[in-house]
Parts: sequence; structure tokens; C-alpha cells
Amino acid sequence: MNVALESGLKMVVRPIEPGDKPLLVNGLRLLSPESQYRRFLSPKPRFTAGELRYLTEVDGADHVALIAVEAENPSHIVGVARFIRDRERPDTAEFAIVVGDRYQGHGAGRALARLLVDEARARGIRRFTATTLADNAPVQRLIASIARDLEHVIAGSGTRFIEAELAA
Ligand SMILES: CC(C)(COP(=O)(O)OP(=O)(O)OC[C@H]1O[C@@H](n2cnc3c(N)ncnc32)[C@H](O)[C@@H]1OP(=O)(O)O)[C@@H](O)C(=O)NCCC(=O)NCCS
Repeated sequence: MNVALESGLKMVVRPIEPGDKPLLVNGLRLLSPESQYRRFLSPKPRFTAGELRYLTEVDGADHVALIAVEAENPSHIVGVARFIRDRERPDTAEFAIVVGDRYQGHGAGRALARLLVDEARARGIRRFTATTLADNAPVQRLIASIARDLEHVIAGSGTRFIEAELAA
């Protein structure tokens, strides 16, 4: 799907594929330590082979990931958003997202998240959960923008657990 942002950036958003491993490796290399930490809640200088398989070899039903690349330079990754269904609560999934530092603050995250919500709802998912750093305002605002109802629980040690009932 083609998505044009107000900033002028044109992205192509599509399901992630096993062949996207080099794109993810490069994307992580370009990600600031702060964004790495915010996404993975720990330092993440590189992916292991197992992590790369997990992140790119998804089943498209219980684990769905959308990747956004620049329309004019498809080797430039803009971001990735994913959900992983909770085995015990099949209408609930864990949400995670990352947008490259140079693309942040221009609506790419929100556009990706909205498309992911459509994919989630089509698979019977009604709720996203996320564990974020307590001071991660951008992702908290982003989740609020896709939620009908939002619950924040302080999880301690600087993190916040969020449950969001998805907006229609
Ligand atoms: C969180 C993240 C994906 C948001 O993507 P983005 O493309 O920068 O966000 P958008 O431009 O679509 O904006 C989404 C919301 O965040 C807000 N936002 C963006 N940058 C912000 C900043 N620096 N400070 C405060 N709010 C900010 C926007 O105002 C918007 O909220 P609004 O609709 O209430 O105005 C991106 O910042 C990121 O990748 N961060 C590092 C990884 C991370 O934190 N992942 C989340 C772990 S689950």
C-alpha cells in the first residue's frame, strides 16, 4: 500500500517477509541508542540470527508485522509495526513499533499503527497491550490515538504497561 505523509514522504507499507532481514539489520544500525532502548527496553546493538528469524518469519495470523520503506528508495526502511497475539487471550495482542530516527515526528508511526489496527481487527483482535518506558511520550500518544479506551498501569522500574481497546 502507498502512503503519502504530510511531510512529503511517500512510503510503501507491506507485510514483512523473510527476505527483509538485511533491511532490519541496516535499520537497527541506523537507530539511535535511545530509540533502540525505547523499542527493546534494553540496549540492542545487533540482532542474533534467532531474533532476525523471529522478527521476519511471521505467520501472518497470530504474528503480523508491517514494514514501511521509502517509496523511492525501497532499501531505506522507515519503520516496522507488529502485533503478537496473546495465547491466553486470543482477542488481545502485544503491540510494538519503531520508526527510524530521521523519520520520527512526521506521522509515519501513526500511519503504520493505523494500518496495523486494520490487520488486527480483521483477525479478531480487539485489544493491544504494550510495555513502554514510563517517559516514552510519543508511543503513549500514538497508542492513545488508536484506542477507544486506555488503561495505564505503572509496572515499576521505569516502565508502564498499557492496555488499549482498539478504536473501530
Ligand atoms: C514511538 C514512535 C514509533 C512514534 O513514531 P513517529 O512516526 O515518530 O510518531 P508520529 O509522528 O506518528 O506521532 C505519533 C504521536 O507521537 C507524538 N510525538 C512524536 N514525536 C514526539 C516527541 N518527540 N515528543 C512528544 N510526542 C511526540 C506525536 O505528536 C503524535 O501524537 P499526537 O497525535 O497526540 O500529536 C517513534 O517515536 C519511535 O520509533 N520511537 C522509538 C521506539 C519506540 O519508542 N517504540 C515503542 C515501543 S512499543
